[in-house]
Amino acid sequence: MEIAEFGGGRHPGWPARLGPLTVPAGVVELRPPRLFDAGAWSRIRIRERSHLENWEPTAPGSWEERNGVLAWPSQWSALRGLARRGQTLPFMIMVDGVLAGQVTVGNVLRGSLRSAWVGYWVDSEVNGGGVATAATAMVVDHCFRHAALHRIEATVRPENTPSVRVLTKLGFREEGLFRRYLDVAGGWRDHICFALTAEEATEGLVDRLVQAGRARHA
Ligand code: ACO
Repeated sequence: MEIAEFGGGRHPGWPARLGPLTVPAGVVELRPPRLFDAGAWSRIRIRERSHLENWEPTAPGSWEERNGVLAWPSQWSALRGLARRGQTLPFMIMVDGVLAGQVTVGNVLRGSLRSAWVGYWVDSEVNGGGVATAATAMVVDHCFRHAALHRIEATVRPENTPSVRVLTKLGFREEGLFRRYLDVAGGWRDHICFALTAEEATEGLVDRLVQAGRARHA
């Protein structure tokens, strides 16, 4: 995988652009969020409400308020601030050059833990085409190789079959069931915790996908 990094940041692994990687849905690339993503981001988020709402944290305000064009500048600014402080690695998922989702590494903790969580969403128009799997593979490899992290965790509702599939395809290990773990879609929901440590991914998740015939280097 080609990884283009821009130097000068205080935190390892950020900012970064990852990819390209070809999957059935198209050519997947990851890049940092930009202020001018507002229009494309909002159009997908408003259209995809029924696809996304059930899996996202409960938040104040209506879906339209939280996902309208005017909501993006504050979200972008918050992500940029967290990234500059080394607490988050936020990526926009591009498929054939068009915005198709987000993959975010959050709650980056250093010291003797060196851990973070990963979360993602993808436009339903390209679902089933390997986009989330490719994006997560690239991000996890980047975290272990360039962001000096040791453990990546992903928590998912048991009924979210596509997301469970993304994680199992990548070799994430199931660690257990967290009861009433997150306030999602208006209630405290059980989540399965999946995790991976650097020792379990030494050959790289992207190479694992390529070997399995699920992706190829663009
Ligand atoms: N039952 C079984 N498998 C299914 C089903 C289903 N109902 N629907 C899809 N799948 C499979 C697909 O066939 C595919 O597996 P395969 O490659 O073996 O055929 C897999 O699930 C999906 O893999 P991708 O194509 O890489 O994933 P995609 O780009 O479609 O994105 C995602 C998956 C992100 C879960 C998308 O559906 C989405 O955005 N959902 C709404 C938001 C969401 O749930 N986000 C995840 C929250 S949990 C977390 O972030 C850790």
